[in-house]
Amino acid sequence: MPDILITENIRGAAVDALCSRFDTTILPDVWKDSEGLYKLVPDFRALIVRNQTQVTADLLAAAKKLVVVGRAGAGLDNVDIAAATKAGILIASTPDQNAISVAEIALGLMLSLARMIPAANQDTKAGNWNRHRYLGYELYGKTIGIIGAGKIGYLTARRAQAFGMKVLAHDPFISRDNILLSELNAELVPLDDLLARADIVSCHLPATPQTFGLLNAQCFAKMKPTATFINTSRGEVVAEDDLLCALKSGKIAGAALDVRTKEPPKLSELEQLPNLILTPHIAAFTHEAQDRVTKAICEDVARVLDGKPAQNA
Ligand code: MLT
Repeated sequence: MPDILITENIRGAAVDALCSRFDTTILPDVWKDSEGLYKLVPDFRALIVRNQTQVTADLLAAAKKLVVVGRAGAGLDNVDIAAATKAGILIASTPDQNAISVAEIALGLMLSLARMIPAANQDTKAGNWNRHRYLGYELYGKTIGIIGAGKIGYLTARRAQAFGMKVLAHDPFISRDNILLSELNAELVPLDDLLARADIVSCHLPATPQTFGLLNAQCFAKMKPTATFINTSRGEVVAEDDLLCALKSGKIAGAALDVRTKEPPKLSELEQLPNLILTPHIAAFTHEAQDRVTKAICEDVARVLDGKPAQNA
């Protein structure tokens, strides 16, 4: 009897170990073919996905034998949690396993903006030697505003502090004993305050109905004209047209986006902006993070199929 269907490109030693114990089918492109996926799922007890497979209520209803969905990653926005819960299907994920990589790229993007590294690289490779064009600024002494004070926000703040930055944090759900506040002595502030005071705003929010389009024209208008904005969380939290206007009009100085409202995005004016750095949702894509994510999700799915509780459900 088939056990596990892996619908995206998830490989490695942990997947091999899973295959040696369970009847596992790996179809890395099947997420592109929703009809094909609907036909396949009724046979399987477990589904392992990344962020491309849309685990909708309809798909879950078709998956009559399904007991667990393993999401190899942190965000659960491609899984209908309510429908899974109603159907008694467990959702396992890997909320912390890629946090270091995301925090590191957030710092990388901050440095890239501060020192114009991508533009300087392109220019120099074109045969130019424009030293004076790239007069940047230090992160040292600047204020970072962290929106979303979970694990990734915390790790980003810790790294920012190592650069000598002051940390402000905003999170509607933060508790006073949050590690970001107690260990890092970050200042917990209302969103408006953070936007007005931060030199760099770094967003670490999940996509939920409450956060959709949260970072909009009103927010960008409150930021300093010298400030930069970084989003390595979910594209949906930013009103992209408003960001475009803010960057074009000089309301803010620059931005870096690793995530977009639609992925892959259609080419737009955003791609033309010199003060915007874009990367293709690679924040979690390091060898280390992917090894941790794969190991954690494979082990949890195996645990559930063995009748044991999942560690990250
Ligand atoms: C995550 O949610 O883990 C990252 O954004 C990467 C992904 O979506 O797989």
